[in-house]
Amino acid sequence: MSLAFSPEALQQIEAIRGRYPNAQAACLPVLHLAQDEFGYVSDETIDLVANVLALSPAHVWGVVTFYTMYHRHPTGKHVLMVCTNVSCMLRGGYDVLHAIEARLGCKAGENSADGEFTIVEEECLAACADAPCLIAGEQYFLRLTPDTALRALDEIKKMPPDHKTHPLKEAGH
Ligand code: FES
Repeated sequence: MSLAFSPEALQQIEAIRGRYPNAQAACLPVLHLAQDEFGYVSDETIDLVANVLALSPAHVWGVVTFYTMYHRHPTGKHVLMVCTNVSCMLRGGYDVLHAIEARLGCKAGENSADGEFTIVEEECLAACADAPCLIAGEQYFLRLTPDTALRALDEIKKMPPDHKTHPLKEAGH
């Protein structure tokens, strides 16, 4: 069965198109919607978004692969965007990242075995004054230490999943 947007998603895409001057400008929000709908942005999803916006798949692929917030593979329920750019690195960002990796038993770029988390090593998250930091869902966790980062994991686990669809969960995790 080929991939298709739900009728609700198609309505939302119509509304998004009305808010932007052209299809290129609408590409980012439509990709967010697609990621929410399908859980990640596969090659098939890129073709679908290109088709619905009348853009080339190469254009959509370029957008998807430029931004780290689009996931090319199924993720855990919660994506941990852990900053290790300069300000965070100087204030212990790698200690935070390594503590999270050790707790979850997976490295940056991987999913935890229970399907709860995905770790993404990020560039600057625009919170340098409160470094080191991570983002989960729409929430910032600031001035982290390895200890507070591990406590944050318990809090994050209680938050709603990042996407409506969660392919790892459906695969039995
Ligand atoms: S370097 Fe981490 S938020 Fe800017």
